[in-house]
Amino acid sequence: MSAQTAIMLCHSEPSEDALWQARFPEVQVLIDSATLQARVRELGEQIARDYDPSDPPLLVGVLKGSLVFLADLMRYIPIPVSYDFVAISSYGAETRTSGVVRLLKDLDTSIAGRHVLVVEDILDTGLTLSYLLELLRTRNPASLKVCTLLRKPARQKIAIPVDYCGFDIPDQFVVGYGLDYAERYRNLPFIGVLTGMTVEAK
Ligand code: IMP
Ligand code: MG
Repeated sequence: MSAQTAIMLCHSEPSEDALWQARFPEVQVLIDSATLQARVRELGEQIARDYDPSDPPLLVGVLKGSLVFLADLMRYIPIPVSYDFVAISSYGAETRTSGVVRLLKDLDTSIAGRHVLVVEDILDTGLTLSYLLELLRTRNPASLKVCTLLRKPARQKIAIPVDYCGFDIPDQFVVGYGLDYAERYRNLPFIGVLTGMTVEAK
C-alpha cells in the first residue's frame, strides 16, 4: 500500500461515526466526531495565542476521562507545552458522584512558578475541580487555568471559573471520547448519550 493510500484510509469520513453507531446502538450521538475535532482545534489555537511560547504551559490532565481530549488538544497547540496527569476518584461504576473526592495519583513534577492549565473531560457538579484547584493553588503556580471539553451548567453545585470550554451540554449522562460508563465507551470517537438510561439525582 502506498503512503498516499494509507493517508486516505486514515482520513475521517462522514460515515465513521455511523460505523461505530452500528456497533454501539445503545449510544445516541450528541456531538459527532467532526464537530468535536473542529472545536478542539479552536480551543487549541486559542490556548496557543494566550500563552507565551518562551514560558511553556504545563497541561495537567485529569485521568482517566481527559486522556483522549488532552491527546488531541495538545496537537492543536502549536507552541511548546509539557503535560502531566493526576488521577482523582469521585465516581465508582455509577453515574452519580458519591461526593467524596480522593487523589489517586499526584503530579510527577513541581508546578511552583509554572503556568498550569488543568484539562478536564467534563465539569458536572464541580466537586472534582474545586478539590483539585484548591490543591494545586497551594503549590504556587505562576498561573492556574481550566480547560474543560464539556460542562453541564444545570448540575453545577460549586462555581468554577472556566477559561476554556468546548461545549455546554444538557443534564444527560454522556459517554465517548474518553468518558465512560463503568469503564466502557471511552474509545468512541464522538460524545453520545446512553439511551434508555435513567440516572438518580445527586
Ligand atoms: P464533578 O466532580 O461532579 O464535576 O464530576 C466530574 C467528573 O465526573 C468528571 O471528570 C467525569 O469523570 C465524571 N462525570 C461527570 N458527568 C459525567 C458524564 O455525563 N459521563 C461520564 N462521566 C461523567
Ligand atoms: Mg474526569
